[in-house]
Amino acid sequence: MKLLVTGGAGYIGSVVSALLLEAGHEVVVLDDLSTGHEDAVPARARLVRGTLRGAAAEVLGGAGFDAVLHFAARSLVGESVEKPGLYWDKNLGESLALLEAMRVAGVPRIVFSSTAATYGEPESTPILETDPTRPTNPYGASKLAIDTTLAEYARLHGIGGVSLRYFNVAGAYGTQGERHAVETHLIPNVLKIANGDGDAVKMFGEDYPTADGTCVRDYIHVADLGRAHLLALDACEPGTHQIFNLGSGTGNSVREVIEVCREVTGRDIPAEVHPRRPGDPAVLIASSDKIRSQLGWKPERDLRAMVSDAWTFLRSR
Ligand code: UFG
Repeated sequence: MKLLVTGGAGYIGSVVSALLLEAGHEVVVLDDLSTGHEDAVPARARLVRGTLRGAAAEVLGGAGFDAVLHFAARSLVGESVEKPGLYWDKNLGESLALLEAMRVAGVPRIVFSSTAATYGEPESTPILETDPTRPTNPYGASKLAIDTTLAEYARLHGIGGVSLRYFNVAGAYGTQGERHAVETHLIPNVLKIANGDGDAVKMFGEDYPTADGTCVRDYIHVADLGRAHLLALDACEPGTHQIFNLGSGTGNSVREVIEVCREVTGRDIPAEVHPRRPGDPAVLIASSDKIRSQLGWKPERDLRAMVSDAWTFLRSR
């Protein structure tokens, strides 16, 4: 297939681009490089530098694309609370421009990078796709609005859409890994300390109602996550919008993650308790039953593999 990958210079978009190329697809990346890296784009993909508003219509017009995989977004929860307008503009506004460009060019399928943040604070775990969506920040709210827009474009314009709601993505694949200018995620932050960059890991809160008092998250290896996109692409059906949670279905606490990082790296990794980070739910675990049964997906790499691959990536840079 001929595929457009928006945000293909970012962490997840670059891994998925690599997997699509390995599977024999043709890949064009559209990225404004505001947070992505030019050298993260696989060599066999063509990079078009631009925003979706600025360039999607031109890239897609008359070019015979079969599908779009849409990753381009702002994705920092804290920043979204400080600058909600930016998130509505960059996430929903740019996505609308992309969908209009697809409609005009007659591109029939889209796989969208949605998030567990669309659910907000869950009433129960594991989280099902049918559970209430009550995002607690503009990041999650803007992603939920895109899911809703996709459903409308499916119903009214016949597009086939799949939204994958990611839980906590980690690890690296080949030469692609996580390198955000502002790093908020647990595993890369712990590995930085292991690598001698900083004194101690900050553990945000130890008084949550969990077994060891720290937050529990559902970690998924970026390569397992990437494979799900290839299955989702095949599952796009004209006129329907489908939603799948994408997590392993199991949880690990912050303390457990730090312990695995100590084992994998062989370093001490000091950690100190800090106050809770505002807006963190105690437990976020996906029900992955739907994607397992309907798309035949299952995770193949555990938390140790995620940490080990992220560590190898960090040490290679
Ligand atoms: N944490 C620490 N110390 C750190 C970093 C994180 O203790 O230095 C803790 C957090 O408080 C949280 C857990 O580790 O309890 C995981 O935090 P991350 O920042 O790695 O991930 P989140 O669960 O906050 O975020 C993920 C996605 C977001 C998405 C969110 C859904 O990265 O994009 O899930 O709620 F919005």
